[in-house]
Amino acid sequence: MKNKSLISINDFSKEEYFKILDLAEEFQKNPNQKLLENHVVASLFFEPSTRTRLSFETAVQRLGGRVIGFSEASSTSVSKGESLKDTILTVSRYADLIIMRHPIEGSARHASVVSDKPIINAGDGSNQHPTQCLLDLYSIRKTQGTLENLNLFLVGDLKYGRTVHSLLQAMAQFNPVFNFVSPPSLRMPQEYKDHLDELGIKYYEHDQLDENINHADIIYVTRVQKERFSDPMDYEKVKNAYILKNKMLENTKPNLKILHPLPRVNEINTDVDTNEKAYYFDQAENGVYTRMAIMALMLGIK
Ligand code: CP
Repeated sequence: MKNKSLISINDFSKEEYFKILDLAEEFQKNPNQKLLENHVVASLFFEPSTRTRLSFETAVQRLGGRVIGFSEASSTSVSKGESLKDTILTVSRYADLIIMRHPIEGSARHASVVSDKPIINAGDGSNQHPTQCLLDLYSIRKTQGTLENLNLFLVGDLKYGRTVHSLLQAMAQFNPVFNFVSPPSLRMPQEYKDHLDELGIKYYEHDQLDENINHADIIYVTRVQKERFSDPMDYEKVKNAYILKNKMLENTKPNLKILHPLPRVNEINTDVDTNEKAYYFDQAENGVYTRMAIMALMLGIK
């Protein structure tokens, strides 16, 4: 993993996932370790973020490193017309590692080609969000004790939701059953279903969020992504397609955990927050430990 970029979840092997998850567990037990002293990490966010940016920055601080960067491109020379290539070529002269979120699919891969420092994709359009995926794997393994043979419900915006695309590819290696719950206009893209067919992984598509969830080990809820719709009317039609409420969880399995990459809008009612099956804020915390592990391994510190 040393000096390798992380652009897609497929860039790392199953063995590398486990290495990251095991190290994240160590960091959760002992989060303040000065392993990144003398390292500078660049945090370049061309698109809004709360959890990804702040958990990465927390992770760097806990490891004793320093962060440079920006949280909106309007404050940088991009607003004067500078290209992504020139921005990356410049920042790679300053920092040892670059974390980048960008609205355009493929931008992170492009950055990794021009940079001589490793790039971490913190989300590129509706394509991939691999560090979210690794913290999701960490959360699933921590709550279920295994990644194998689980019944996973992916709910909401399966078309534009980059987190579910990364999660599908990673979890497909652990013999799951997938249930996709979405409005017809936001179905899981065909290329991902073809991938599951090639691997012989079972999946079912549902229009409704109903009693089928009583068989779930994990319900992974996603926000309908307003910013990815070209026609606002299309968004209005589906924005409240599913709302998970506490009473819907009465007959669910005792081991069930509800995950959400967040931010949430309406798709999980706040009455679920106090249910012991709600795990999304713990999941957000797990992002710090997982990102500490990813950076320590990519920089060859651990
Ligand atoms: N999960 C996630 O990517 O959240 P942010 O957009 O707040 O970073």
